[in-house]
Amino acid sequence: MKGLLLAGGHGTRLRPLTFTGNKHMLPIANRPMILYGLEHLINAGIREIGVVLGPIKEGVKELLGDGSKFGARITYIDQPEPKGLAHAISISRDFLGDEPFVMYLGDNLLKQGAKPFVEAFESGSSDCVVGAARVDDPRRYGVVVFDERGRVKGFVEKPREPISHWALIGVYVFNRKIFDAIERIRPSWRGELEITDAIQALLDGGARVDCRFVQGWWKDTGRPEDLLEANQLVLQELEMGIEGRIEPGAKVTGNVGIGEGTVVRDGATIRGPAIIGRRCEIGPNAYIGPYTAIGDEAIVRNSEVENSIIMSGAEIDCGRRIVDSLIGHRAKVLSQERNLPRGLKLILGDMTYVGV
Ligand code: TTP
Repeated sequence: MKGLLLAGGHGTRLRPLTFTGNKHMLPIANRPMILYGLEHLINAGIREIGVVLGPIKEGVKELLGDGSKFGARITYIDQPEPKGLAHAISISRDFLGDEPFVMYLGDNLLKQGAKPFVEAFESGSSDCVVGAARVDDPRRYGVVVFDERGRVKGFVEKPREPISHWALIGVYVFNRKIFDAIERIRPSWRGELEITDAIQALLDGGARVDCRFVQGWWKDTGRPEDLLEANQLVLQELEMGIEGRIEPGAKVTGNVGIGEGTVVRDGATIRGPAIIGRRCEIGPNAYIGPYTAIGDEAIVRNSEVENSIIMSGAEIDCGRRIVDSLIGHRAKVLSQERNLPRGLKLILGDMTYVGV
């Protein structure tokens, strides 16, 4: 079985961070998001992986290379315009050939990985296995509709009425029948070849489509708040160690990872779960609260940070509390003013400067 890892799209909901880089390179617990999907495919036994890249490619090829350092073989597939998930499959036809394949959306994180879906496909006689998770607001998702006996009846993209609370997650296993089904569909009102329409066309053509429900958490990281939640979910379970230096007088409690070459200065407090990268400077007079990830070579002084993702090379020295924030690579939040008690909530693109 082959793998198709999607890393195209514009990532408009994560602008400005996606103006300067590919969304799938944004860090979750200090690792580019795309690595989670890649690992899930490899753990499911897949070695031949096509990576679909859109207009913003920055960093992905440099990180993944030809796949050999991960024990896989990677082929890059160019999708200049994000014309939909089904479009991404059809342009990958030459790479996929006639073998079954698993498509994994690179912006999805899944506790259980892709393996159960691959196994369900391999042990049964389905033409397609999809994954579904229960959501409160199905209007943002493609949903699976079931009949009264619990069999898959149909698929609807972003339903106006809550016709089903079972959202399609970003893992799909297909055999070659999907190519003919995609031939039979037309672009939707938003100009995309929708995967829900393609799977509906499979069903309508008499193919067998089965659904597996997700065990454990699943997160689609489309919006800033989703990215923060994914960061929380991963940090909660991550095994971390302390390699940097904690000066006497600094306080580190809970599950905390501190990278090589990092200094936590006298008087600083870090309360886990939190991860600090390599060669960072934390303190003096800094508090890093739970669910914070700080990338390599970042500086936090005279400030409090909680439930935030601070990317590499960022500098925060503002005498304030920063919460629920995404701060881009090499962005700076600086202030000489020390008496302002209010917190800041920020989404800052790479290299942004904020003086408060
Ligand atoms: P989306 O979240 O639907 O789109 P997006 O990532 O461009 O974000 P936004 O809606 O904020 O503009 O995409 C889901 C996943 O599929 C994501 O990993 C990107 C990928 N994708 C492609 O590779 N090609 C495509 O044509 C589309 C639509 C998405």
